Amino acid sequence: MTLKKIFSGVQPTGNLHLGNYIGAIKNFVELQNENNECIFCVVDLHAITVKQDPKDLKKNIRETAATFIACGIDPSKSIIFNQSSVPAHSETSWLLSCIARIGWLSRMTQFKEKAGKDKEKASVGLYVYPILMAADILLYDATHVPVGEDQKQHLELARDISKKFNNDFNAPNFFKIPEPLIHKSFARVMSLKDGEKKMSKSETSDLSRINLTDDAETIINKIKKAKTDIDPFPNDVNNLNTRPEIKNLIGIYSSLTDMKIDLLLNKFNGKNFSFFKEKLSEVVVEKISPISNEIKRLGKDPGYIDQVLSEGSKKANELSSKKVRDLKEKFGF
Ligand code: AMP
Ligand code: TRP
Repeated sequence: MTLKKIFSGVQPTGNLHLGNYIGAIKNFVELQNENNECIFCVVDLHAITVKQDPKDLKKNIRETAATFIACGIDPSKSIIFNQSSVPAHSETSWLLSCIARIGWLSRMTQFKEKAGKDKEKASVGLYVYPILMAADILLYDATHVPVGEDQKQHLELARDISKKFNNDFNAPNFFKIPEPLIHKSFARVMSLKDGEKKMSKSETSDLSRINLTDDAETIINKIKKAKTDIDPFPNDVNNLNTRPEIKNLIGIYSSLTDMKIDLLLNKFNGKNFSFFKEKLSEVVVEKISPISNEIKRLGKDPGYIDQVLSEGSKKANELSSKKVRDLKEKFGF
């Protein structure tokens, strides 16, 4: 098996949740443990596309790095660093913004969602956000990018930028064409309160998500209060598409236990939802409690986290500085 070059990023905007874990970080750990070359970035430059309190940002950068480690990313195997400590990201982002086309960016659905109705008031950074993301990936010649489904369109843009650059500068293979790694069966964890909305950091109700810092009691309570419907436990996979809340809870169980959905439906056949929720709580608590405890333990040791980030930055700087030099040369600088 040829090894992959993995790059992915998570924004340090607080409240990392079960969706981040299942959609992204769980896969980071698996890819690392298959001995791929992995770089995981706390994308703090992306975070400031919406206003951040500087004190909170500093705390959240450390907490996101601590979450990576608590989930099983090992700083002796993978590079962990924060984006703003490596100047190549900002520099490459500018260079690539002269390659990307306005028409491509104007199709990005995440901008439309985040900017909301009054898009004239959104920051320019929020609009060009996917170019910075392309820079992150292309700088390290990443071949594969593990992300949740919501990032698929941004990945396609990174591929388009890469192809256009290679083509315009007659430099085949200068940039790799990165492949997204998105789980096919369950790549979008939904809100516990509304099966049509994704689980999100910014949702006002804390009951809508399971935070990776929640303790066992909080998790049990949130799952108890999660929305279900009045129909019995499903016995056919095909029925799930019309029952988004049920599909989500079953997806969470399946994804955390690696149990196939049809086996799971068999296991709980004829049982009621309160029984299923009890079992689901056990599964979630078993996975998340150790992570939550470790995040809290690491929270008391900011010196260690800062050291991991600083060693990671050093390595990321070494890897990226040559690529920027070569890139500038291509432009004629
Ligand atoms: P963000 O918190 O937006 O920086 O996202 C970090 C990673 O988590 C990205 O790969 C996202 O695609 C993934 N992610 C965020 N929310 C969800 C969700 N509700 N379901 C699955 N993946 C998610
Ligand atoms: N945009 C991604 C998100 O919000 C985070 C991100 C930034 C990223 N740069 C990246 C993900 C590079 C993968 C690769 O989830």
